[in-house]
Amino acid sequence: MSAGKTVLITGASSGIGRATALLFASKGWTVAATMRSPETSDLASQSSNIKLFKLDVTDQASVDAAVRDVLAQYGTIDVLVNNAGYGLMGPFEAQTDAQIRRQFETNVFGVMNVTRAVLPHMRGRKEGRIVNVGSAAGRLTIPLYSMYSATKWALEGFSEGLWLELRQHNIKVKIIEPGMIKTDFFERSREVATKPGLTDYDAFTEAVMPNIKAWEDAGAEPDLVARSIWHASTSIWPRLRYQPNAKLVVWSRGWAPGQLAVRIVRRLFNAW
Ligand SMILES: NC(=O)c1ccc[n+]([C@@H]2O[C@H](COP(=O)([O-])OP(=O)(O)OC[C@H]3O[C@@H](n4cnc5c(N)ncnc54)[C@H](OP(=O)(O)O)[C@@H]3O)[C@@H](O)[C@H]2O)c1
Repeated sequence: MSAGKTVLITGASSGIGRATALLFASKGWTVAATMRSPETSDLASQSSNIKLFKLDVTDQASVDAAVRDVLAQYGTIDVLVNNAGYGLMGPFEAQTDAQIRRQFETNVFGVMNVTRAVLPHMRGRKEGRIVNVGSAAGRLTIPLYSMYSATKWALEGFSEGLWLELRQHNIKVKIIEPGMIKTDFFERSREVATKPGLTDYDAFTEAVMPNIKAWEDAGAEPDLVARSIWHASTSIWPRLRYQPNAKLVVWSRGWAPGQLAVRIVRRLFNAW
């Protein structure tokens, strides 16, 4: 694929989504940078190739309206980057049913909402790419991130299924599995679940948290993921998965027997 194409990116207000918007714009693509609050973003002032659209992935009406507007303005969506997401953290018992449902609404059903809105257009053209931003946590679960990991594991299955059924329509599906990346994910986009009186997980949490923090601090820049997304959007190779800053983690999952892989995670994060 070459310049002159259009990409629609969800969650483009910060981090990986923003870096991806800037990279595609610098390559001459038209970028529909979607976000919940475009009125607070300076992204459009960074490049004349970027235009902002309001889109909340959990609200199908807002998704449909944004996709309609993008198609009305640009005529095509060549690549959809499903990037929006956040991380629910804490022991499962501390998480409420509402928190868990919200996590799935954004990270799983949100991806489906946007994909559902874009697919008829891509199928009609018999061309397109869908790039889903999963996580290395969708291959190896990180302690205290059981629900976040569950959403990213779900995304793996969904993406693989789409890959199988959309090939016949010349729509390529990719999944990006980043390791730790320095973005707002560990601040603004992290929801920490606590339950008053539930103290039985305190020692575990205290042992694990410094290790998670150390991994976060050693995270790579979002540009690295943007480059993987670019590669996934433009390469002619029929590759499904990309692992920016996580090759070793994901490779160990494939290589080590299941039980050993989980033990490696236990040791890395001091999760005894
Ligand atoms: N950072 C990492 O280490 C890491 C590693 C692996 C995977 N990931 C994945 O990378 C993706 C991007 O995260 P990031 O690291 O770039 O963090 P980020 O800077 O916090 O970006 C998250 C983005 O998602 C958006 N978002 C959240 N809920 C939304 C909704 N309902 N509708 C539309 N947008 C919504 C946020 O928008 P608002 O500005 O409106 O809040 C924000 O733009 C996520 O899917 C995350 O799971 C991150």
